[in-house]
Amino acid sequence: MPEPGPAAETTPLRLCAGADLAEKGKALVFDVLLWGQPARAFALRFDGRVVAYINRCAHVPVEMDWQPGEFLDSSREWILCSIHGAAYEPATGRCVGGPCGRGRLRALRVEERGSQVYWYPCAAVRPPLPAEPSAESSPP
Ligand code: FES
Repeated sequence: MPEPGPAAETTPLRLCAGADLAEKGKALVFDVLLWGQPARAFALRFDGRVVAYINRCAHVPVEMDWQPGEFLDSSREWILCSIHGAAYEPATGRCVGGPCGRGRLRALRVEERGSQVYWYPCAAVRPPLPAEPSAESSPP
């Protein structure tokens, strides 16, 4: 039997339909494990392309959306951290202003294929573990 190798690291997971992500609209927020710790990530469409990042500011490691799934500023040009106003370039995650300095958002690999958006987990960012069935719901 073949050993799980790098290919197992890149098995894509479906995130959503492409139509669910409007241009410069609300992001899809989803749970991940970042180096084994619970974290959240988000995916949004910008200039036609779907991008995804860990929802964690480079200034202080906190979530950035000012309302759930709302990351863009009023001009819809920058990802803006709601805490102290760090601004990031949506296409690259690079800090372009504010207290994030030379930092950048941690990008996730996503791909839009057909009508669907897929996420490719990696060693650092993986899907959350499935919930354990509770004792009450177990069959006798
Ligand atoms: S925590 Fe994001 S700018 Fe300070």
